[in-house]
Amino acid sequence: MTVATLPDLISHAQTTEEQFLRQIFVRDQMAEWSRHPLVMARADGVHYWDVGGKRYLDALSGIYVVSVGHNNRRVIDAVRRQLDTLHFSPVMHGTNPPAVQLANLLAELAPDDLSTVKFQCGGSEVTEAAIKLARQYHRLTGSPGKYKVIGRYLSWHGSTLGSLSASGLRSRKTVNEPLAPGFLHVFPPTCYRCPFSKQYRECGITCAKIVNDVIEMEDPDTVAAVIVEPIGHTGGIIDPPEEYLPLLREACDRHNVLLIFDEIITGIGRTGRMFAAETFGVTPDVLCVGKGLGGGYAPVSAMICRRPIAGAFWGPVAENPGFVEGHTFEGNPISCAAGLAVLQEIIERDLCANARAQGQRLRAGFDRLAARHGVIGDVRGKGLLQGIEFVRDPATKEPFPDEVAFGVRVGRRALENGLLCRFDPHWIAFGPALVTTADQVDEMVALLDRSIGQVLAEVRG
Ligand SMILES: Cc1ncc(COP(=O)(O)O)c(C=O)c1O
Repeated sequence: MTVATLPDLISHAQTTEEQFLRQIFVRDQMAEWSRHPLVMARADGVHYWDVGGKRYLDALSGIYVVSVGHNNRRVIDAVRRQLDTLHFSPVMHGTNPPAVQLANLLAELAPDDLSTVKFQCGGSEVTEAAIKLARQYHRLTGSPGKYKVIGRYLSWHGSTLGSLSASGLRSRKTVNEPLAPGFLHVFPPTCYRCPFSKQYRECGITCAKIVNDVIEMEDPDTVAAVIVEPIGHTGGIIDPPEEYLPLLREACDRHNVLLIFDEIITGIGRTGRMFAAETFGVTPDVLCVGKGLGGGYAPVSAMICRRPIAGAFWGPVAENPGFVEGHTFEGNPISCAAGLAVLQEIIERDLCANARAQGQRLRAGFDRLAARHGVIGDVRGKGLLQGIEFVRDPATKEPFPDEVAFGVRVGRRALENGLLCRFDPHWIAFGPALVTTADQVDEMVALLDRSIGQVLAEVRG
């Protein structure tokens, strides 16, 4: 190491040279990533600028995080004020005013009697907490044998061992196996490619009814919870038919099993209502939000449970240890101040209505691209969470061969064209900030249009 002083080292390391990038793990394959490293320098509204000065239109709100846009002055001011007042309070001894205020605001906003909140920093921590809550709740209410958790294939609930065990994404699980015992998986409602080779509606919603069957075959006395994302993300924006979540609710009620909604992505206005639970008209027993709650200004996530569940943790004192779950930074005052300001911004500017309006516009834009390019088999999603499944032939639904990785090529082209979106070999998704305007939606669709056209020209040669 020849760099002499700390300030020199820091300023040099802001470059994209491999010598400096070797000192950091990113989520992608390192060698591949370092060939085209994306290192962001600043952001404003729905735009990023990288360290080379290139501008990107952010059709993904970071990664479904920047709900109220970049450089939002209300949130920044709230965080600054909180930094000047109280930046940390010890969780072992209690809580702090912004945490109590945010819990009460979430209780007010969440449907029905979802009302008691556990704060953490990230999504994995709260989905994991929800699983622990379900197990401890059953223990406290006389069913200590209920411990199994039913999740879905293709799902993603997080990176910690419990949340990963509940997840069903092969590409992220296998390397970490063996995972925790007590987790089962069922097929998700991928209607476009039904796992049971049926057609909606004649299918009888087999994918939902089978959850009830699995609970019964496993023995209901051993099943604690069912965990689902209302709209599955990592499977390619799996938007369930309207009957699906109500049927899951019925199965859980029938067998005293807690229904957990992982709304880390779908919560906080993304689907056009504050929670996807409202979009689908189904109240879970436990609802988890993260990402957009702090808008990226500070890490904050929340697990919100129904009143009777929370009630089980109140006493009697001698027999009840409280909810045995905690992390050092839970309910951090800075994070909660950010969360309060984000929610205030969403409510006062009615950004849920904007998400519905711009979501429709985005959907119409994707439908136009489907008609124009002939390689889009399905468009799925709600509000400002919309995805596209690419196929070689929409008439037969024949996918592109894996090695073509059509979606990845489109995503990379989009980056070259200055557009950020989520991409996967067979699908891409947009999840722009709730503050996105109609013109910005049109520009995002136009950049995607160009990117698809360029990749098609390459593929068709
Ligand atoms: C649906 C869902 N649940 C949970 C998580 C985990 O959240 P985090 O990465 O904040 O731990 C994610 C992250 O992408 C997610 O998309």
